[in-house]
Amino acid sequence: MHQKLLSLLRCPQTGETLTEVDGRSLVNQSGTHRYPVLHGIPDFRHFDPPYMTRQEESDAADRIAEASRDMDYDALIEFFERKIFPHPRPAAKIDASIEHRRSLAIRSPSRLESLLDITARQALPKGVTLDLGCGSGEACAALKQRGAAMTVGLDISLVELMLAKKLLAEKGEEAYLVAGCAEALPFASESLDFIYSPDVIEHVSDQSAYLSEAQRALKPGGNLLLNSPNRFSIVSPEPHIGVWFFGFLPRAAMDPVCKLLGKGGYIGKRLISLNELRAILDRTFPKHRIEYRRSNPQSHSLPGKVFFATRAVAEPAFSYVCDQHIIITTK
Ligand SMILES: C[S@@+](CC[C@H](N)C(=O)[O-])C[C@H]1O[C@@H](n2cnc3c(N)ncnc32)[C@H](O)[C@@H]1O
Repeated sequence: MHQKLLSLLRCPQTGETLTEVDGRSLVNQSGTHRYPVLHGIPDFRHFDPPYMTRQEESDAADRIAEASRDMDYDALIEFFERKIFPHPRPAAKIDASIEHRRSLAIRSPSRLESLLDITARQALPKGVTLDLGCGSGEACAALKQRGAAMTVGLDISLVELMLAKKLLAEKGEEAYLVAGCAEALPFASESLDFIYSPDVIEHVSDQSAYLSEAQRALKPGGNLLLNSPNRFSIVSPEPHIGVWFFGFLPRAAMDPVCKLLGKGGYIGKRLISLNELRAILDRTFPKHRIEYRRSNPQSHSLPGKVFFATRAVAEPAFSYVCDQHIIITTK
């Protein structure tokens, strides 16, 4: 393991430093916790990702590693979605998933620019940047291309990290990859300069712990930049299932209604409203600024048009019903 990464890593249970043993695992100072290194990726996860168990992921990661020797990234995502994903899905869903992955590679750099613009942050800090919930690494690549220095991508899904490894290698960008839970980060306190976390807060299992951990790991003066789809958006449908006004349902009804609509279950998603976002941020990052997204992709819809036509007169109210909140916090 690279020394630069090892010096940043800590046991997420005890906070102790880690030593590499036999090239295949990391052990904490007191010897109480051991973490495997799988395909070069240290694995600190203490619970399963939402869509596959850790065992299923480990088998899938082996197959991805083997396939990625002969395939390019594009072929690899197709192979993963069609042949490796362990749970049966309708063909249309598989096609949509492949298309989504392809579009991410194109969208990630412009999304980074627009989030940086909204928060008026022009330059990335020189030190360590964490892409928190990095998925298949598109934002890691965009951060590197935008001039980030040492970049680390962390995700709960080993499969996504294996895809990220291929994507980054293909793009010739270097980022360190770590499997872990955002709720218990395997990084030393006050070790990170900047955390970028697009499209993640609505997927973590504990949103307060996610923000508290980011706060702990940031250096004083460091920033966290993230976006959060609004539970109570009236200008766009729920972004994962495409159902308008879904967020107005009581939480307990969301999964059964989603199933009734033939959209599968509503798992691994929890959108938050502006009030809830403010309450969590007040507890975890008292220094924060919340903006709302002004370039709404649904602006062609009727509610979108009304939203934009009347925005100037009722600006403050819109932040309660916009489609996305953008948050920049300072430690
Ligand atoms: C919608 S994807 C966004 C990926 C990437 N940030 C992007 O914008 O392309 C959400 C990511 O969060 C990850 N994730 C969900 N829960 C997590 C957790 N508790 N800890 C770390 N990552 C998590 C998922 O595995 C997934 O890759």
